[in-house]
Amino acid sequence: MPDLDDLREASDFTGSSAGANGGFHLKGLGGQDWGMRSRLSRIFRPDTGKTVMLAFDHGYFQGPTSGLERLDRSILPLAPSADALMLTRGALRTTIPASNPAGIVLRASGGPSVLKELSDEQLTLSIDEAVRLDASALAIQVFIGGEHETRSVANMSTLVDQGQAAGIPVLAVTAVGREMVRDARYFRLATRIPAELGAQFVKTYFVEEGFETVTASCPVPIIIAGGKKVPEKEALEVAYKAIDQGAAGVDMGRNIFQSESPLAMITAVRSVVHDGFTAAEAYEQFLDLAASSSAPASASASALEPAGV
Ligand code: 5RP
Repeated sequence: MPDLDDLREASDFTGSSAGANGGFHLKGLGGQDWGMRSRLSRIFRPDTGKTVMLAFDHGYFQGPTSGLERLDRSILPLAPSADALMLTRGALRTTIPASNPAGIVLRASGGPSVLKELSDEQLTLSIDEAVRLDASALAIQVFIGGEHETRSVANMSTLVDQGQAAGIPVLAVTAVGREMVRDARYFRLATRIPAELGAQFVKTYFVEEGFETVTASCPVPIIIAGGKKVPEKEALEVAYKAIDQGAAGVDMGRNIFQSESPLAMITAVRSVVHDGFTAAEAYEQFLDLAASSSAPASASASALEPAGV
């Protein structure tokens, strides 16, 4: 371990990526095995190298939060418009039809509810179960600076070992404690550690100052969380800036399913992520679609019936 007396602040984040990529569309992942790259390609579109993930795993520690009271009503109509769904195995089996084409990013950690210390998580999914459910990736919280930091990093490393053996990528989700300063310096630390320990992609928050240094210093793709519900215009601006500054996509929950027009919102987010729309153009699209209440989905929502019905 380096001498802790000489920890100099990093400053050189410039230049294009020169890492081995083997022609694969995702940074740092060209050297992975075929099954791993195949699963990653179900999440990140090969033509754009980006993803719009719909996150609705909040119930694993929050219970039925606003907008997720009835997954069959709120999420099913949106599912065909997402490149990937981030969810629990319970939600998958009870609600999502196996015919849904989106990639499946399965929540693999949990334990404490909102009533307890959130960093006190364990692994909650076996690799056999992940294979049985044909998971495209496994998601786990990493609490850098949190009370149970070491255990969460160890849990993630165990999951990476299991995922490598089965060809299933791991998404490390940077979980930020209330006491943590949400700045680029913190997120460089919180994203780089999981990548160094083998996570194939990392989810974090956008920050106004220096977000490009977070994406530049992470050797694997970064996607951003949507965070708490804000006005649609603001959420689209965050998505635009994150993509412009090197993010490989968004994993958005509340800013989609708590929107007044969720289908219009996910369509507008797709336009930013995949089609190069500016935030202003995407907001115009949102307003038009919300007004007509007929946002086009990438497949017919009516084609999806709840699982088990
Ligand atoms: C839970 C998560 C959520 O999936 C994540 O917070 C995304 O949802 P939102 O956009 O609502 O923040 O990782 O810890």
